[in-house]
Amino acid sequence: MPTRKRVLINVPVTPSLLAPLESEYEIVCHVEEALTIEAVSEYRDIEGWLTTTFQPVTREILDDLPQLRVVSNVAVGYDNIDVAACTSRGVQICNTPDVLDAAVAELAIGMLLTIGRGIRAGDAFVRTGAWQHGPAPLTSDVHGKTLGILGMGRIGRRVARTALALDMNVRYHNRTRSTDDSGATWVDRDTLFRTSDFIVVLVPLTAKTRASVGTQELDVMKKSAYLINVSRGAVVNEAELIGALRANKIAGAALDVMETEPIGADHPLCQLPNVLLLPHVGSATRETRLAMTELAITNLMDALACRVPTGDVNRALASGHPHSRVTDRN
Ligand code: DGY
Repeated sequence: MPTRKRVLINVPVTPSLLAPLESEYEIVCHVEEALTIEAVSEYRDIEGWLTTTFQPVTREILDDLPQLRVVSNVAVGYDNIDVAACTSRGVQICNTPDVLDAAVAELAIGMLLTIGRGIRAGDAFVRTGAWQHGPAPLTSDVHGKTLGILGMGRIGRRVARTALALDMNVRYHNRTRSTDDSGATWVDRDTLFRTSDFIVVLVPLTAKTRASVGTQELDVMKKSAYLINVSRGAVVNEAELIGALRANKIAGAALDVMETEPIGADHPLCQLPNVLLLPHVGSATRETRLAMTELAITNLMDALACRVPTGDVNRALASGHPHSRVTDRN
């Protein structure tokens, strides 16, 4: 009997989802931790790899995986993968577009409402008994305020639609102007930062966007404005954001993502009262993670069988529109 091709899995997967893969491939698991360059030699003969964003897929690791043909990320972002190194080796990269848009958009809106209406502070006010000593401080309306969306892709359009339903004014900045009827208005980047009451960062992390939101942007924001990041922490210059929050240059921030994850309780962000912190849970619902995992497995099997996968990162990059179809998480 011919030996079966090997596929490495280093992301937790519900065992029943693996059945189609198991029927065709030999599965090897390394799910406890990210694969290091030292550990990779054990998997030299794998042809497919199901992984996710905590796993760096570097040139050095790829050098030790000469048979590898497909890396399928259980994520829409793929900033963990050295795209150039994969491309030069003919390795297909797959991601999971579309299926997480709603979950990430609803978290972004939830964060906006939480900081805008002081929901967390209100909860603490009740729990600490402060309510018995007088009414809680007033907060501000969210309706009538301006939301600025930096990066208007699929998630951005969902955020825009929801914010419009809340009677917010919605503006966005993107390299290309949106052709759909989301009802949001395109503005230049500077206007977006100057005029918004809430800014949601949705651009993907690339060499160009790394640390692209920093002092220059924070300095022009309204003192009453909030920055919300549900994309990648490294898009924002974290040290500069911390400086701005400490100096109360802006009203606050809500971050689902940090520069280096996970952060500990001693991280400077955890010492700031004007920031809401979440542990990178934009897509972390049972339903969405299931859909992402199913799509990532289908992508992997399609690519290994030389069919075009749904989340075809290489094709999107080659088309010259890396952020238009599958590569952005916005
Ligand atoms: C994604 O899909 O990119 C999410 O951030 C999950 O990591």
